[in-house]
Order: sequence, then C-alpha cells, then structure tokens
Amino acid sequence: MSESEPLAVNQTEEELEGVVVSLRKSSRKMCFATLCSKSLQVTSRERTEDFGEKESLDGKCQLLLYHDEGWKQMVQGDFSLCCGAVVHCSGVFESQEQDRMKKEPRLRSMLVRRLRVVDSPHREMSESGGVRQHPLVERIAREGHVRSCDVQPLCKQWWRGACKDDGTCSRRHFFLDEAEQGKYDALKNKSESMRTIESLINADDPFLHADKASRSKSDALFVDWLVGTFGEEELRRGVVDVAGGKGELSFFLLHRHGVGSCIVDPRPVRLTKSQRKRLGISAAHQVSQVEEKSEKFPPTIRHLASYLNDQTCEDEIMKSVLQSCSVLVGMHPDQVMKTLHLPDVTGRKATEYI
Ligand SMILES: C[S@@+](CC[C@H](N)C(=O)[O-])C[C@H]1O[C@@H](n2cnc3c(N)ncnc32)[C@H](O)[C@@H]1O
Ligand SMILES: [Zn+2]
Repeated sequence: MSESEPLAVNQTEEELEGVVVSLRKSSRKMCFATLCSKSLQVTSRERTEDFGEKESLDGKCQLLLYHDEGWKQMVQGDFSLCCGAVVHCSGVFESQEQDRMKKEPRLRSMLVRRLRVVDSPHREMSESGGVRQHPLVERIAREGHVRSCDVQPLCKQWWRGACKDDGTCSRRHFFLDEAEQGKYDALKNKSESMRTIESLINADDPFLHADKASRSKSDALFVDWLVGTFGEEELRRGVVDVAGGKGELSFFLLHRHGVGSCIVDPRPVRLTKSQRKRLGISAAHQVSQVEEKSEKFPPTIRHLASYLNDQTCEDEIMKSVLQSCSVLVGMHPDQVMKTLHLPDVTGRKATEYI
C-alpha cells in the first residue's frame, strides 16, 4: 500500500517510531520488518491477555512494505533501511477482527504507507571500522524484550565498519545489549594486542600490517608466488603439499594452474562443495588415496594419509612420492619441515626446498 492509495472507509492511519530489530526482504516488491516501539506496549499487552500469556509480544509489530515499483521506493530519509535503524512510519494496522482470528499469538501487522529512516547505525561510522549504536536502540530493544533468538545474527561487516548496506544486508546492525557489545570490544582488544605482539616478534618485518592481505588469501598468494618462482611447467612435474590439511593450497594449484599435487597429512582432505564443483569432482568421488608406489603426478589432488617424519620417510610409498616431485611445500606445517633432514630423504640439496 503506497501513500497515494486511498484508505478504505473503516481504516485509520497510525504513526509509529521505533527500532527495526529484524528484516526479511522477501522480493523486490515486498519487505517485512519487525519494529520495536515504545508506543506499541499497551496495545500488545491487551492482545497477549486475549491469547493467554503464551509469548510476550510487548512493544513489537510487523511492518509490511509493499510497492509495485519496489519496496525501496517507500523508504525516505538519508539512510537505507537496515536492522538497527530508527524509523518513523505511518500506515494501517490489520483490523482487530483479523487479528483475533489468528490461532497463534502473532505480531500485529502494519501495512506501511510512508517510512522514513530517522537514524542509522551507519552514521558516523569511521573509515577504519568501529561501530556506533544509537542510544535508543538498546533501551527500546530491552523494553521490547528482544531476545537474541528473535533477531538475525550480528553483521560482522557492520562491526568492522565495512558493511555498505544498500538495502541488501539482512543481518543485525546493532548490539542487543551491553554484554554483547562488551564481547565484541574484548575481541577488538584481543586482536589489537595480538597485532602488537606480532610486531614485536617480527620487528624486522618490512611490511605494514594494514598492507597485508587477510589470512584467507594466503594459499592463493602462495600459489602465485610458487608459479612466479618455479614456473607452471616445473610445478606440473608434481608438488608435495606437506601438512596440506583440508587441501586449500592443492586446490588453487590444480584449479588455477592444472598442477597435480599429493597432500601428506594424516587429516582427511576436505574440499568444500564449491571447490569440488569447480574441479568437477562429485561428493561421492573425493580425493584419491595414494596406495602404491608412484613416480608420476597426474593433474589431480591425491592424499597420502600419514605424518611425515623420520620413520615414515623410510616407507616405500612415501619415498617414491618425495623423490619424484619437483617441489615440496609446507604451509604452517606445525614445524614438521624444520625437524626433518630433507636432503637425506629426497637426495637433493636443501636449497631446492621452500
Ligand atoms: C596448522 S594446520 C595447516 C594446514 C594448512 N597447510 C594451512 O595452511 O591451512 C597444520 C597441519 O599440519 C598437519 N601436521 C602436523 N604434523 C605433521 C607431520 N609431521 N606430517 C604431516 N602433517 C602434519 C596437521 O595434521 C594439520 O593438518
Ligand atoms: Zn550488514
């Protein structure tokens, strides 16, 4: 129902101000929001008595935004509609009769005619991160008995100051209470102190922390470095991925460069669904196990489920894999590469290893 549509004879328009505590963007045309508002408390208390005290619906109602040209057309103000926004809206509540016919106590619905976002948790958000909670949000949320199970999970991007909400993020852009804010403050403090410790340990590290890519990109970056250093052709003779874990590094080698590898790690290799899809491997046909001596590295990911240590190096299968590869790599291998005397194992010079 948009502003331009006339009201029916028995409909009256009501106004509400409150905090959006959950959002469900159902389609381009329709969006549902749960609003927590002080002005709703009396009405909903009466309702709860009607239904018996099954669930407290105090202070909350559901907003339905519907517009033929898209619900975003109805949102006014300088900010987008997000979870945690303070909004002022007017519209028509469903009738008491319709409401009473419901079997379960449900939130009353308002069909919105106008909605203005008065304030947003994105206001004054710094470039480098950090969040700002509107002073109203916590109070209204508490008075409306908002529990964590009622609302969406917190948007971590918002917490970092990086959520560019353009009406597409449905996660929560506010803290439920001081306890939750305290938890996130503690996390921030922890990561800052870790950064200080890191800079003390790596005092001669010439790179700034801010210039470094995130840990999640390290496998792909390492693969780029390997290709730049050794060349694809050399790598295609075979890479042994010591302590390869779930298989991230091996995945990038194969997917981006067609380089076959053998993961030596007792842990099962677990490629993600999207990785398997990109490699064209079905769920049933996971990574093959190396079960006999092999000198060739086919363009696949294979797995040798074993620790690499002085004893296992004597094993025939392990020996054949180590001696036939072109490069032996280990990313965060829990120090295993340091304890091994690799030249003895593979019969090559130590300088050939990373
Ligand atoms: C910190 S994880 C690193 C996983 C992966 N390379 C990465 O960077 O995300 C360490 C891995 O080393 C493996 N590992 C520890 N000691 C090993 C050894 N002696 N031989 C082979 N793998 C070992 C563990 O099973 C574990 O999967
Ligand atoms: Zn967000």
